[in-house]
Amino acid sequence: MSLRSLNLLVMILVTLLSSGAGKPSGEQPLSRIEIHKTTLALHDSAYVEASPRVLGLQGQNSDWVTLQYSYPSPSNDDWIGVFSPASFSSSICLPENPKESPPLLCTAPIKYQYANYTTSDYRNTGKGSLKLQLINQREDFSFALFSGGLSNPKLVAVSKKVTFANPKAPVYPRLAQGKLWNEMSVTWTSGYGINEAEPFVEWGARGDSQVRSPAGTLTFSRNSMCGAPARTVGWRDPGFIHTSFLKDLWPNKMYTYKLGHKLINDSYVWSRSYSFKASPYPGQDSLQQVVIFGDMGKAEADGSNEYNNFQPGSLNTTYQLIKDLRILT
Ligand SMILES: *[C@@H]1O[C@H](CO)[C@@H](O)[C@H](O)[C@H]1NC(C)=O
Ligand SMILES: *[C@@H]1O[C@H](CO)[C@@H](O)[C@H](O)[C@H]1NC(C)=O
Ligand SMILES: *[C@@H]1O[C@H](CO)[C@@H](O)[C@H](O)[C@H]1NC(C)=O
Repeated sequence: MSLRSLNLLVMILVTLLSSGAGKPSGEQPLSRIEIHKTTLALHDSAYVEASPRVLGLQGQNSDWVTLQYSYPSPSNDDWIGVFSPASFSSSICLPENPKESPPLLCTAPIKYQYANYTTSDYRNTGKGSLKLQLINQREDFSFALFSGGLSNPKLVAVSKKVTFANPKAPVYPRLAQGKLWNEMSVTWTSGYGINEAEPFVEWGARGDSQVRSPAGTLTFSRNSMCGAPARTVGWRDPGFIHTSFLKDLWPNKMYTYKLGHKLINDSYVWSRSYSFKASPYPGQDSLQQVVIFGDMGKAEADGSNEYNNFQPGSLNTTYQLIKDLRILT
């Protein structure tokens, strides 16, 4: 197959599953955590240490953290929960229903792992270590050690906070064909609201002068959710979603672009530089490649358990996509 002047069109077919179709034989691991039953059992000599404390110092949007932890009455049921935002005590959340008392923890962990995962003798020594991958999603992180298993969690120790160098950084650009053949839309996420900064894309043909196109800003709030748990322990602030339209593109030309935010004090925050190839002229003889996959699910690359972790095949799909794209470009 000729690989000349390929345009790769990735079509993601997200099948909206009716409730039954999403239920395989197993449960969602996070839903097994009875977060409402959590009790406090902070132990003087138990600890969780996380390092490094600042992630993404080279501008990466994902990074690894190493945990060292210890608990004098260890068991194989002990687990580590990752919390983001780092503060999850009930003093910062209000009850959803005024007649109910708020849960002890304001948020459910975004993922968890058993304390013995990479330290098989944790049960005997009470000491363990674990490496976890974190992605920059605007909030800081803390790591809590629980005994009592998932069904009867007892919080025994919490780490200090870990944060990305710039948690609000503009990240994760998504490209989509615009309304016209010579238009590309760029959508990304940041922690900068409309009153804080002006979002834009700085772009142009590779090697040429670059221009700026303004972007719009949208978000949604906790009150847009129907009720608990989406409004309570399951809520995670979505940050701000920006979209800009790059117009009058030349067919088949390579373009570079950067995401930018101009803050009210006139300083700038930039993403790294990215690139794309514009569409061919309509009707032009060209080879298009289409990748089609079904609802791919979601899993954690570091092996930890997360919502919908019952779909580890999604990692295979992702790795295969990356491989195919490397061959084509
Ligand atoms: C670690 O703990 C889990 C959960 O209790 C258990 O299923 C697993 O067998 C344990 N692993 C080892 C090596 O003991
Ligand atoms: C502008 O504001 C940002 C965010 O508050 C701050 O990090 C930065 O240092 C400020 N820059 C100047 C030049 O004052
Ligand atoms: C994913 O890939 C691994 C390694 O190739 C394989 O062992 C596993 O069966 C695959 N999982 C699924 C769900 O296809």
